[in-house]
Amino acid sequence: MSGKTVVRGELSVPGDKSISHRAVMVAALATGVSRVGGFLHAADTLSTVGMMRALGARIEEVSPTELRIEGLGLRGLVEPADVIDAGNSGTTIRIGSGILAAQPFLSVITGDRYLRRRPMGRVIDPLARMGASILGRDGNRLPPLCIRGGPLRGIRYEMPVASAQVKSSLLLAGLYADSPVTVVEPKRSRDHTERMLAAMGAGVARDGNAVTVAPCERLDPLVMTVPGDLSSAAFFLVLAAVTPGSSLTVRGVGVNPFRTGILDVLRGMGADIRQVGERVEGGEPVADLVVQGAELVAARVGPEEVPGLIDEVPILCVAAAFAAGRTEIRGAVELRVKESDRIAAMVDCLSSLGIPCGEYPDGLWVEGPAGVSPAGPCDSRGDHRIAMSLRILGAAAGVRVEVTDVDCIDTSFPGFQPLLEGLTR
Ligand code: S3P
Repeated sequence: MSGKTVVRGELSVPGDKSISHRAVMVAALATGVSRVGGFLHAADTLSTVGMMRALGARIEEVSPTELRIEGLGLRGLVEPADVIDAGNSGTTIRIGSGILAAQPFLSVITGDRYLRRRPMGRVIDPLARMGASILGRDGNRLPPLCIRGGPLRGIRYEMPVASAQVKSSLLLAGLYADSPVTVVEPKRSRDHTERMLAAMGAGVARDGNAVTVAPCERLDPLVMTVPGDLSSAAFFLVLAAVTPGSSLTVRGVGVNPFRTGILDVLRGMGADIRQVGERVEGGEPVADLVVQGAELVAARVGPEEVPGLIDEVPILCVAAAFAAGRTEIRGAVELRVKESDRIAAMVDCLSSLGIPCGEYPDGLWVEGPAGVSPAGPCDSRGDHRIAMSLRILGAAAGVRVEVTDVDCIDTSFPGFQPLLEGLTR
């Protein structure tokens, strides 16, 4: 079965989440006034705004997507008067910890009940090696984190898992260290932080999978427009891709080469996706994505490809349900520690809809083409990407799929539901 709902037209999606978080953090550390357009105005990125305001930065919403940020300079942050709340945002707490570890004051940072279950040892351990003092629950593994910031030393750190959050945390801490910090990744992850820091005048050097940041006295202000979020666009790209007859253009999407794995895999499944009008905005590659619906075939995704599509696995599972054959995704154990255990969440939900699928310790398989027969509500587990994937599945199949806790979609994509309704009406 291919999708039933033909979609036609064009749309744009909100600003990139990863880039929006980073823009607010580094602009607050810059010397002078930064301007960030295309900012993602969503719960996650507003958590980062809240954190940087708590540290003294003046952040003015000129409009919901346009920020004017008066940077305090690298050494101008102030001790927060209260516990910082990162909400649901792993990016806020993990990258934020790198900044906080370098400040001459005490910070306590926590998050919602989902974030308080997510592993923080991956930033605590290397930051501790740099000399930071960070305490957390469960033997320094879980939030809340209590960070007594202070002088840091440079290190060379070989990351056990590819993580742009950990890399970025260490690079920002490295700005304050007494000697360079080098982070070596097992596989390359998104490089937004490196691009931004280099544009702001920091010393950033890359050598294969290693990236080094030099200690820094001053960052220039940032003036940038954040591109549309490919991770948000992916929901609509899949909706169109699984339905022959569909034709959809998503305008102004960031196509950073370490984020475009979903496009490669969908193309390998037979999807017709073209990148047109390629340009560079704010130091990031941007394009319009044009997709024509087609009959898809199954894919095999292995560990090499996972970092480039880590957030798109739930929606890839939806594409797999419409594709002929058995799609397998392996080497994706990281999915178990995202906003939810996304392997278990997708297998639970797809099974409850009658779609053949199963778990591996490090991934999952989905067999298509499958009919969709709801037998009760699907549990989003409070995870925005699970909720949106299920919504797309229902829309593509032309079946009403009930999903619990859809409010969590506002974490990354306010406006998703009206956009979907407008396309499928
Ligand atoms: C992100 C990195 C990824 C990704 C997350 C955003 C970032 O997490 O899943 O949604 O902005 O750096 P990891 O660093 O844990 O891989």
